Amino acid sequence: MRHFIFAALLVAALTVLGILGLEQARLLPEQASLQAVGIDWLFSLHFKVIAFLFALIVGFMLYSIFVFRRREGDTTDGDHIEGNTSLEVLWTVVPLGVVLYFSFLGAQVLGDVERIDPLALEVDVIGSQWAWRFEYPDYDVVSTTLVLPVDQQAVLRLSSTDVIHSFWVPEFRVKQDVLPGDENMIRDLRVTPTEVGEYTVRCAELCGTQHAYMTAPVVVVQEDEFQTWLEEQAAAIPEDPVERGRLWAEQNACLTCHSIDGSKLVGPTWLNVYGSQEIMEDGSTVIVDDAYIYESIREPALRIVEGYPPAMVPGLGENLSDEQIADIIAFIKSLKE
Ligand code: CUA
Repeated sequence: MRHFIFAALLVAALTVLGILGLEQARLLPEQASLQAVGIDWLFSLHFKVIAFLFALIVGFMLYSIFVFRRREGDTTDGDHIEGNTSLEVLWTVVPLGVVLYFSFLGAQVLGDVERIDPLALEVDVIGSQWAWRFEYPDYDVVSTTLVLPVDQQAVLRLSSTDVIHSFWVPEFRVKQDVLPGDENMIRDLRVTPTEVGEYTVRCAELCGTQHAYMTAPVVVVQEDEFQTWLEEQAAAIPEDPVERGRLWAEQNACLTCHSIDGSKLVGPTWLNVYGSQEIMEDGSTVIVDDAYIYESIREPALRIVEGYPPAMVPGLGENLSDEQIADIIAFIKSLKE
């Protein structure tokens, strides 16, 4: 009995040390959404149980190693133990109960995280290799920065133009895969930001050579600032077709693969490309003019410049209207030196 009391004290001490140590480690970033509250609570509860379990195993083991080690000159056999039914029932039933209780808590927190606010702000989030675009359908605004009002639920409707991406803002905790395909593949993610500030959305699904750089700024602002931002965006479409073309190119991820300074990325640079003569994969030559650029956006697989990978993102061009493509062509024309 004396041994049990000492071993139990050792386990209790190790548990407290483990919990304090894990709290010091600050494993989680800032908590910046309503959904994060329940998730963090459950996370820290898990850690407490894990600390206890670790202490239970290591505590008894250490105690046995030091207290029951063989004394010098002792050559007798150890006790023959045939099993212990009550102990085995105990260590089966108790963990089962704990795991079932945790699955109940998990379901409860998941229910909270997915709770629907009918007044939620709708934002269409489109992932492409390798950029994010954010559309606010109620306000006719398109942006490469995700701006959200604080303390209001946003329903992010996630879709992809090419491969699977994953939307993840660590401070919001919630994460969701972004799938290509039709309407049925759109996934909703609900976030209620609670802290004004600047964050970063990163892609959490390996999606190609520039996966690691597939980030976009997230800005959480007060409601009135959000309204001001919306008005600014609506008024911010430039008059100049060249500048409009630059905006469409930025918003539609063109510039992640096509440089405008002559450097070679995944696709050919746009600098000095207009009017140039290019050799195609099949050996034919093409003068890069309006018709060829239009075709390359609408049907990129048709004619590929030699030395470049087969068109990766045929889905991208589908978002663009003919007027927008005309603006992009004007922008490309302007890139001369
Ligand atoms: Cu998109 Cu990784």
